[in-house]
Amino acid sequence: MAQDLGGPAAGAFGAGGSVASQVPPTIPAILTQPGDPAPVLDLDPAKTDRAPVTTAEPEAPAIGPTGRPTPEFPVPPPLTGHGPARVISMCNQKGGVGKTTTTINLGAALAEYGRKVLLVDFDPQGSLSVGLGLNPHEMDFTVYNLLMERDVALEEVVVPSGFPGMDLLPSNIDLSAAEVQLVHEVAREQTLQRVLAPAIEHYDVILIDCQPSLGLLTVNALTASDGVIVPLECEYFALRGVALLKTTIDKVQERLNPRLVVDGVLGTMFDGRTLHGREVMQRLVEAWGDQVFHTVIRRTVKFSDSTVAGEPITSYASGSTGADAYRQLAREVAARCLDA
Ligand SMILES: Nc1ncnc2c1ncn2[C@@H]1O[C@H](COP(=O)(O)OP(=O)(O)O)[C@@H](O)[C@H]1O
Ligand SMILES: [Mg+2]
Repeated sequence: MAQDLGGPAAGAFGAGGSVASQVPPTIPAILTQPGDPAPVLDLDPAKTDRAPVTTAEPEAPAIGPTGRPTPEFPVPPPLTGHGPARVISMCNQKGGVGKTTTTINLGAALAEYGRKVLLVDFDPQGSLSVGLGLNPHEMDFTVYNLLMERDVALEEVVVPSGFPGMDLLPSNIDLSAAEVQLVHEVAREQTLQRVLAPAIEHYDVILIDCQPSLGLLTVNALTASDGVIVPLECEYFALRGVALLKTTIDKVQERLNPRLVVDGVLGTMFDGRTLHGREVMQRLVEAWGDQVFHTVIRRTVKFSDSTVAGEPITSYASGSTGADAYRQLAREVAARCLDA
């Protein structure tokens, strides 16, 4: 049978040209009036000034790293005044997923867009405070004093972050004692909410950097928040434990804070060159759907370098892709949950 390929069947198309070229061009009846002279279609492009007809669709948004078309996020409009703030916790009980990095850099990018930002270091490891160049042993007051001592006021604890438009409530290891001491307090889950209340009217955004656990400090952060951002490292085991985190968020929402919502799930340390990275991203979108931010933070050493320098990446390496990624996240967060 193989030898028959050059036989009559192949000749039917080969000799006569394509099937399309044998069909005479016609004009749809809707474009003609009764009595019109029979139209002559001249398809020579040189004889017409009309744009050549193409079959291309109107330009669609490009497919982003999450496998979905990425919309354009506009620059947030300028504000005429500040407050009330949206309170957002960075939460994941796994360590090293980018909570602190996201708190600093999302905060700095929002401040660049004119939002007044307060960062709350709510991890006894104090990485956020150190990441902004503070010495953990040289703090007069920390979040611990604010939580546990009724005569310490918020303005005594807030320090400038060193970056315009962004302040910090610092922490150090003292905060680990609060987790134990709070157990005996009345309304122990609402303590952070109570002490943050005077700050709400002064800021546009308050970002809380949670510790890597789902203990009482994290429950306090969720109770004080309007939204949660869940940073997830784009590697296989990242999805383990996420169900427990979701249950915790749901319980706080049901029992302590009905306004709490998930503002978004953020893929961090993404490496789009590996099949593995792309597969994890696909599974993230399958599990969380539209809650996954279109913005994805790629893996780059610039983040560790900027932590060592005690600066946000938006100032340490202002033109880097990492800085731009956090600026895009700031625009996406603004569009999704600040200005909406
Ligand atoms: N996108 C990234 N690419 C490379 N390294 C990163 C990235 N994000 C964070 N890191 C680094 O990973 C480490 C853990 O990040 P961190 O933000 O401290 O996580 P967490 O607060 O969840 O424990 C830090 O050394 C940080 O500099
Ligand atoms: Mg951290």
